[in-house]
Amino acid sequence: MGAASMASMQGKRILLGLTGGVAAYKSAELTRLFIKAGADVRVVMTEAATRFIGPVTLQALSGQAVYTDLWDPRIADNMAHIELSRDRDLMLVAPATADFLAKIANGLADDLLSTLCIARRCLLLVAPAMNVEMWSSPATQRNVALLRADGVTVLGPAAGDQACGETGMGRMLEPEQIFAELMSQFAPRLLRGKRVLVTAGPTFEPIDPVRGITNISSGKMGYAVAQAAVEAGAEVTLVSGGTSLVTPAGVTRIDVQSARDMRDAVMTRVKKCDVFIAVAAVADYHVVGAKSQKIKRGDGNLTLELAPNPDILAEVAKLPRAPFCVGFAAETEKLHEYAQAKRKKKKIPLLAANLAQHAFGQDTNALTLFDDKGEHVLPRAPKIVLARQLLAHVAAMLRR
Ligand code: C5P
Repeated sequence: MGAASMASMQGKRILLGLTGGVAAYKSAELTRLFIKAGADVRVVMTEAATRFIGPVTLQALSGQAVYTDLWDPRIADNMAHIELSRDRDLMLVAPATADFLAKIANGLADDLLSTLCIARRCLLLVAPAMNVEMWSSPATQRNVALLRADGVTVLGPAAGDQACGETGMGRMLEPEQIFAELMSQFAPRLLRGKRVLVTAGPTFEPIDPVRGITNISSGKMGYAVAQAAVEAGAEVTLVSGGTSLVTPAGVTRIDVQSARDMRDAVMTRVKKCDVFIAVAAVADYHVVGAKSQKIKRGDGNLTLELAPNPDILAEVAKLPRAPFCVGFAAETEKLHEYAQAKRKKKKIPLLAANLAQHAFGQDTNALTLFDDKGEHVLPRAPKIVLARQLLAHVAAMLRR
């Protein structure tokens, strides 16, 4: 994918703050990833963080002096609490303890790092790391909600084994995941000013008021595409079948049930959009004469008559001033053969194909993009990473 997948943070200036948690050791690896990608990393540690990892380690990895003290005599005029963040593009606190989140949520500033947070002008991201009970406590949840409302980006935490021996939510994200999040923060706004319409999730075709035909699509890939489009600067509408997913920040979501509902929701909005990305797993058929009352059990066979659903993507692609259309194809075999045939049949410029058994319901996927130039393999990665790569490809095709 060329530039899109090249992990460059050349010239980006990061202030990395560490607070006192076992996960501090992961921040050494994170520093290494940032430096390898060309970033300028200035490390600030709380007193407690220095109990977990030595400043010397971070100094060696970042190639710069590490700061811990509000009264550091190396900074002129005792202005360390302001100076150290002024030239930064972004501040990241990883690990962020429950205590530290509480402090910055409430504007407390009694050490160098918390003072830098309140005096900053740049973006702030935090990667919480704590015991499962500490994370789920009402106080921490309240503080996290306050931070989000203040525009702080909260990365993770993840679920899994914890240093204390317990298992659950509270582990800091892995260095690679935090690195990927920062990459997206630095991503050029490739779709700025573009309006993107995305379909996601399964459709549900009613049989009667309590039964229906659906499929196992989780909606994760479509939601990731919507999120990546917002990150790329687009105005995004998501037409979604039933899922239990949280709407990505900044996305307008319209909930639908059946394929025909989805078609209507798409057709009323598609004329105002520049890009249409059909990720939904749309049912091919609906039940003819769905009953308005619950069907009673009988002794004999029951036959359902199915009629074809509209092909939303093909219909959009046929419009006189069609937006740039992207299709998804989940196959269980012969991926390449079926995918190119599908792209041509639907007359769309770009199709992303995956093997259904490797994708449905999972957090990772592997995609192959098919366009008029051939195929481009996107190796297995979290769906959000693939979504960003897909949109970089779309942006490149739009520029052509
Ligand atoms: O089901 P099929 O493999 O043809 O789906 C390929 C693409 O077409 C997907 O992007 C899907 O969202 C879209 N599609 C659609 N309406 C349908 C069936 C599929 O928009 N009725």
